[in-house]
Amino acid sequence: MTTAHELWDDVDAYFTGLLAPADEVLTAALRESEAAGLPPINVAPNQGKLLQLLARLQGARRVLEIGTLGGYSTIWLGRALPADGRLITLEYDAKHADVARRNLARAGLDKSTEVRVGPALESLPKLAEERPDPFDLVFIDADKANNAHYVEWALKLTRPGSLILLDNVVRGGRVIDADSDDPGVRGTRAALELMATHPKLTGTAVQTVGVKGHDGFALARVLD
Ligand code: SAH
Ligand code: DHB
Ligand code: MG
Repeated sequence: MTTAHELWDDVDAYFTGLLAPADEVLTAALRESEAAGLPPINVAPNQGKLLQLLARLQGARRVLEIGTLGGYSTIWLGRALPADGRLITLEYDAKHADVARRNLARAGLDKSTEVRVGPALESLPKLAEERPDPFDLVFIDADKANNAHYVEWALKLTRPGSLILLDNVVRGGRVIDADSDDPGVRGTRAALELMATHPKLTGTAVQTVGVKGHDGFALARVLD
């Protein structure tokens, strides 16, 4: 008997094989991440391709990522950049950052991407002090407990028209538990409420099924 999950996986395999096929760089990034003991919590290939398409649609020249892991999503986003584009990705764990830097170098993205190590809530104020040009796209995919803080920082570091993406907003449906004491659920709900109520944001959220189970993402556009 085919279970729902097996069917989700099979459909993902079909879409990915057709529309987001792996190449040597992406395959090596996952292989090296696994060999280094990193958890396999990177975006699915078809989600990576979605990130890349959104970055292209956005005409993104400057991308900020919060939560690098081994740089798999970073490669998808980095490949969307124009020749003079730049991506900064924030990672708490120095070991993850080392793996990511090697994976980004293999992808030929070591000039256009920068991995900054430390808790993102320390890296973000430092980044803001540098008065960087506004980011056109922010992908938030780190510790979910801080999701609302990350959306607040994204607002400070973007411009009207920028796109803010938030990964893993469903987590098997746990998001709907308003009384949850799970800090991740609370953080994600706070971030979604900000997207709903902040005068400078308009957004939505979409459920996904596939190799990452039942999950989803939210996206919001920064308004004038
Ligand atoms: N975006 C990646 C997956 C990121 S997994 C991909 O799709 O390929 C989440 C990452 O966030 C992990 O590497 C974890 O170490 C990192 N992280 C957790 N807490 C963090 C924090 N406070 N600041 C920065 N990164 C953090
Ligand atoms: C987890 C984190 C992620 O960013 C993800 O996409 C899936 C799982 C996790 O922490 O379990
Ligand atoms: Mg994620």
